[in-house]
Amino acid sequence: MKVTVRIWRSSGDSKVGRWSEYEVETDPMERVLDLLHKIRDEQDGSLAFRRSCGHGICGSDGMVINGKNRLACKTLVKDLKSPIVIQPLKGFPVVKDLVVNMEGFFQQYRRVMPYLVNDEPPPPKERPQSPQERHLFDDTTKCILCACCTTACPVFWANSQFLGPAALVAAHRFIFDSRDRAGRERLSLIAQYGGIFTCRTTFNCTDGCPRGIQVTKAILELRQAILTGNLPQKPS
Ligand code: FES
Repeated sequence: MKVTVRIWRSSGDSKVGRWSEYEVETDPMERVLDLLHKIRDEQDGSLAFRRSCGHGICGSDGMVINGKNRLACKTLVKDLKSPIVIQPLKGFPVVKDLVVNMEGFFQQYRRVMPYLVNDEPPPPKERPQSPQERHLFDDTTKCILCACCTTACPVFWANSQFLGPAALVAAHRFIFDSRDRAGRERLSLIAQYGGIFTCRTTFNCTDGCPRGIQVTKAILELRQAILTGNLPQKPS
């Protein structure tokens, strides 16, 4: 089968550019990433896009496909209407074509201290954690930092100070980890201007997450922790 693929081409400014259209021989079970490779390898070597793992793990190939944020490597041709329209993620500066500059995204991510903090002397073998304690943050461990949630958020488009859903998901992952000891510090950080109360609960982030993370639910759990002052019980 043949499909038509329309790609927004630009360099430096996503508003100034042009559409390029390609006819591609494909199979319904092929992925959008395969289409992009075919276009670049067989028709237009100047097309720029980013990928690494090819299997939904690295988060490199987030892009807008038929109006929705998705990973090109996890989106099958059979699930899309033709023409397949592909654009770069919204709200980031474009480097070229589908490659965006994610430095601002990672700056916001780093603000929430996305690592385990615990200076207590470790037990002889490991820091134990019950299945129930692990379950509290199970969902938010699935984040691969593809930015599909953050760039689906209208608040993020309008307010560059906003931490964004992905950084809040990272904060959730560590705040609800019973082994971590910096939960209150992170809570006070995300309660500041540009933090969690900037969210307007539009659910775009949950819709946009290709990993199925309940992003809005995680944000509401963080809000509740700030408002009640209750963190999950730490083991004694
Ligand atoms: S290429 Fe790694 S997530 Fe798609």
